Amino acid sequence: MSDDHTVTITDNRTGKSVELPVSKGTHGAQVFSLQGLHEGLGMFTYDPGYAATASCRSSITYIDGDEGTLLYRGYPIEQLAEHSDYLEVCYLLLYGELPQPAEMNKFREIINRHSMVNEGLLRFYDGFRYDAHPMAIMVGVVGALSAFYHDSTDVTDPYHREISAHRMIAKMPTLAAASYKHSVGQPIIYPDNSLGYVDNFLRMMFAVPSEPYEVNPVASRALDLMMILHADHEQNASASTVRLASSSGANPFASVAAGIASLWGPAHGGANEAVVQMLESIESVKQVPELVARAKDKSDSFRLMGFGHRIYKQYDPRAKIIRQSCHDLLNELGSTRDQPLFEIALELERIALEDDYFKERNLYPNVDFYSGIILRALGIPLSMFTVMFVMSRTVGWIAQWMEMMDDPEQRIGRPRQLYVGHSRRDYTPIDQRGD
Ligand code: CMC
Repeated sequence: MSDDHTVTITDNRTGKSVELPVSKGTHGAQVFSLQGLHEGLGMFTYDPGYAATASCRSSITYIDGDEGTLLYRGYPIEQLAEHSDYLEVCYLLLYGELPQPAEMNKFREIINRHSMVNEGLLRFYDGFRYDAHPMAIMVGVVGALSAFYHDSTDVTDPYHREISAHRMIAKMPTLAAASYKHSVGQPIIYPDNSLGYVDNFLRMMFAVPSEPYEVNPVASRALDLMMILHADHEQNASASTVRLASSSGANPFASVAAGIASLWGPAHGGANEAVVQMLESIESVKQVPELVARAKDKSDSFRLMGFGHRIYKQYDPRAKIIRQSCHDLLNELGSTRDQPLFEIALELERIALEDDYFKERNLYPNVDFYSGIILRALGIPLSMFTVMFVMSRTVGWIAQWMEMMDDPEQRIGRPRQLYVGHSRRDYTPIDQRGD
């Protein structure tokens, strides 16, 4: 929403000014539009990491980093975590409203029906080395979906967009579980559409043809909760990657593959794997102060994984929910193996939160700090942690993509740069280049 409020920027050298219109959202800081800045002052803005730049209008997710709140389509994450389930949250993120019962039944049925993947695509798995990281496989096979679903890649057609969205949400658990099965040399388990979304994934992940398999409802609920908490997080690196990739009109399968690549990094989705590696490297709580000291030492590149966030300057609300869920899950599963790790994490959090370095920089546990302990307790191997994030976040990427495709202001993403290289110079033939 724009009103008559403007911001004036003046170049103190030339005295030239430009007046820029301010827009106000439902919540959060106001923004002023930079369109007209170059025309008025002949300048661009410089904002590494886009820390001060709103790249789009969005009505999907809102984060208040100072308050520690997270809303999906206006609904607080705490309420969704307590009362909803992952597929209902998918519906909410995609369509903007909570579904009526008939709409929800239809949505579940559609997602169920699309869970199989083409056999040709499944054969791709054989081409990967036995020890390939499942995230490497995911980048490849999700991108390859576009080769199998040509019939739905006309991004200008709303029906194509919707069917692509359904296909991706439905097939992601099948592709994810298959990447794990490949890495352990077990046969791929096909989806069973009589099961719910999360139960189906757990079965594809852990069942083997030689034994019966029953889904543990405690594990299923814990995983469903994790997936709700990871479903969307507004314009983070991977969502922005999906938007930027698809701003050229690229198909959504290829764009989501780009998002997966971005998520893989340890500063983003790869942090859940890095947190557990870090916790496993600590033999006893006595070593915790030493680790905290390393994280503060600027001559050491080590960071406390699962701590800090670009937006949250408060406790990440998702981390609060996950910490409680960790408690409940370990008690319910009677998991003695994972309890020591949880205790180390609690001690690490306690010491860090009392430390001036972390207090001054507002560094709190983020979603990844406790999520790895839950995944470990569920028997998910470390190399699959970020794949679990992919599965949960697919709906967020797709919702962001669909919103972008409907946005009349959408243009190809094309940032500017501050060029600091050589001035123009002439080419010297190789035999004339002296020392
Ligand atoms: N351990 C130690 N120091 C830290 C940490 C940390 N985990 N995080 C930030 N800092 C320090 C940083 O060194 C800097 O100090 P100074 O002002 O003295 O230079 C200050 O805090 C600000 O950090 P920044 O790197 O400028 O902040 P950012 O917004 O660019 O980075 C972050 C955010 C999440 C990448 C970063 O906090 C980090 O690397 N955390 C560890 C990795 C992690 O847990 N990532 C998961 C993020 S949540 C899930 C997701 O998005 O996927």
